[in-house]
Amino acid sequence: MSLLELISRDELRQQVNHWQQQQRVVALVPTMGNLHAGHLSLVQLARQQADVVVVSIFVNPTQFGAGEDFGNYPRTLDSDREQLIQAQCDALFMPGVEALYPFGSEEFTKVQAPASLANTLCGLNRPGHFDGVLSVVARLFNLIQPQLAIFGEKDFQQLLLIRRMVMDLGMPQKIIPARTVRVASGLAMSSRNHYLSDAARQQATLLQQTLHQVATQLQTGKRDITGLETAAMDSLREAGFDPDYVAIRDAETLATVSGSELPAALRILVAARLNGTRLIDNIACSIK
Ligand code: PAF
Repeated sequence: MSLLELISRDELRQQVNHWQQQQRVVALVPTMGNLHAGHLSLVQLARQQADVVVVSIFVNPTQFGAGEDFGNYPRTLDSDREQLIQAQCDALFMPGVEALYPFGSEEFTKVQAPASLANTLCGLNRPGHFDGVLSVVARLFNLIQPQLAIFGEKDFQQLLLIRRMVMDLGMPQKIIPARTVRVASGLAMSSRNHYLSDAARQQATLLQQTLHQVATQLQTGKRDITGLETAAMDSLREAGFDPDYVAIRDAETLATVSGSELPAALRILVAARLNGTRLIDNIACSIK
């Protein structure tokens, strides 16, 4: 099977016209490359739902803040290409900056993420990050015009913001969430795991364990939300992490919750640095 490689807007436009004429259902899996089994599970889900699967690879400069890892972000195109062929992806869109930001990535038409969803959790430590994510995803949707797009639950706040953008702007795309893929130890797969030594990777499994401990405590009737969050942060600190947050939130809105009237669907989320690498994870938690 061959992988169609598209780079310019014009090439993409021609191909999109062709798929549209053939009335093919197109699914988009947006990525920043350095693909791993987590991404491939998104491709697999896309294949189940669409006739044509397009993966985009673009390390989006506008979602990285000053001092973040834009320059160092792993770029592994040859291995990505190989994996996409194996996964029977149909087309790879790998635009240069000029295809997505024709007027440059300094001054560009921006999608501003709504504050209540964006200026919390990861948005607090990464100001402007979600504006960059939404701005690039809106461009990809406009250029590729997929009927559906797949986003991993690992970036849960991103997933909710994209859903919100699509509803808010009346975009026709159906957003399909995909479960987090984990390595055997429980660590969520992430391109940033490459920055970790073997020992740190082992230590990082504590993130998921911490999330499960919080969930168990909620399910066994503990209701001191702030107490649970603080205790989880403290135990991560003791284990050598530098946590940004452990948060128990409403799974629909990411609003803070009160122990006296918990919504049925909660999400427990964590972000913590380990040896300078920022890792995130989250799990669902339902309270009967
Ligand atoms: O989740 C990611 O890899 C990125 O944020 C995305 C959605 C591809 C936008 O650059």
